[in-house]
Amino acid sequence: MGFNTPVSAIFLAVNLLFFAFVTSSSAQSVPTPSPSPTCSINNLQVKGLCAKFLLPGLLNITVTVPPTSPCCSLISGLANIEAAACLCTSLKLPPPITLNINATAPVNSVLRGCGKNSPPNFTCVV
Ligand SMILES: *[C@@H]1O[C@H](CO)[C@@H](O)[C@H](O)[C@H]1NC(C)=O
Ligand SMILES: *[C@@H]1O[C@H](CO)[C@@H](O)[C@H](O)[C@H]1NC(C)=O
Ligand SMILES: *[C@@H]1O[C@H](CO)[C@@H](O)[C@H](O)[C@H]1NC(C)=O
Repeated sequence: MGFNTPVSAIFLAVNLLFFAFVTSSSAQSVPTPSPSPTCSINNLQVKGLCAKFLLPGLLNITVTVPPTSPCCSLISGLANIEAAACLCTSLKLPPPITLNINATAPVNSVLRGCGKNSPPNFTCVV
């Protein structure tokens, strides 16, 4: 069994390299240039109440959101930037699926319809 030690050592070394690689590459692939606002309300609720106003916008169909709609009530208490994040997140598919669709315009139109302003430099790509 003098053979056992080198094999385990190699196994361990390979594992360490692998994890070092995974750790460093994932650290590099998550650039966070600005603190991205997060949504403190339930994503499924946003989806449920706001999707019908957001989805047509993705197809370039303009839908006016009634300010009294449940979608607007849901986001009414949020800061503009958080409301925008909630609406944007509600359009995202579970990772790793990304469609690379620019959803900035529909999110802005729902914000405007609900009497909110679009945050400066806001973009939403889903
Ligand atoms: C969306 O509709 C507007 C106005 O109808 C039009 O000017 C624009 O080119 C359309 N955009 C796309 C991506 O179809
Ligand atoms: C997405 O669309 C918005 C407005 O429709 C535009 O200002 C922005 O530059 C677009 N972003 C990308 C990444 O195409
Ligand atoms: C918006 O983007 C412009 C150009 O990239 C930048 O100069 C400006 O500081 C940004 N504004 C905010 C509020 O982030």
